[in-house]
Amino acid sequence: MLIAQITDIHVGFDRGNADEHNLRRLRAVLNRLNDGPDRPDLLLLTGDLTEYGDRESYALLQEALQDCAYPVWPAAGNHDMRSALIEAFPQVPAQDGFVQYVLDYPAISIIVIDTLEEGRHGGAFCEVRADWLEKALAPRADRPCIIVMHHPPFESGIAWLDSGAEEPWIQRFATTVAGHDQVVAILSGHLHRPISTVWNGIALTVAGSTAPLAALDLTAIDITRPDGRAMISNEPPVLTLHRWDGRRLISHMEGVEGAQILARYDEKFLPVVQLIDRERRER
Ligand SMILES: [Fe+2]
Repeated sequence: MLIAQITDIHVGFDRGNADEHNLRRLRAVLNRLNDGPDRPDLLLLTGDLTEYGDRESYALLQEALQDCAYPVWPAAGNHDMRSALIEAFPQVPAQDGFVQYVLDYPAISIIVIDTLEEGRHGGAFCEVRADWLEKALAPRADRPCIIVMHHPPFESGIAWLDSGAEEPWIQRFATTVAGHDQVVAILSGHLHRPISTVWNGIALTVAGSTAPLAALDLTAIDITRPDGRAMISNEPPVLTLHRWDGRRLISHMEGVEGAQILARYDEKFLPVVQLIDRERRER
């Protein structure tokens, strides 16, 4: 099973411009996905779909997604507005007003949770949402589950983006997930960089954004004195493909645009493929 993930699209950053930079970056990733060799079973959009949560931007997003020949499922990020997002994605079975739902596939269950608190940059996860997650996990103890959320529950080391690993919402999320060993992975966005870690024993992947990326700088930051460091960079927009092989999730990230193909599978390359295949079969 192949799960595509795109995150932090931020449509409408240049409001009213239907050919804005962020839309062009999104289209490049969608073209790569739709014209490329790997057809996903579904596409997850893990939040910050728009910059300001306005209807016009969700409409532009839907227009860009119209050639996707597979289901597209959204999560809410801190830049989104739930009412407009739910309106744009009527297939979302919202729970108690939150963008939380389960996709049960034969091989795996995908549980999308809502970490948005409108008006706040950081995450949130209240008792209502935690109670819903508990009820989603309990009957699925015997099948692998992936949790999908916008805000990752850890500190990345990019100081200006981190909101604190000890925040109450993270504690509540950790308590809710604890003991549910069927959770094989957490997929998130928010940090605008591809990052992987293990959180409380669970593999956690932060997908890189399609909007411009957060510059990689892990040094401490002085919040009273700007030091001229790089903050946002125009690295290529990122496509993430997660392959579930029945035992584990393997996550691939590609920076779309700008790459030159240096070798193709032709007669010259054939011996390399044959050598690797021979080694595999001789073991
Ligand atoms: Fe974002």
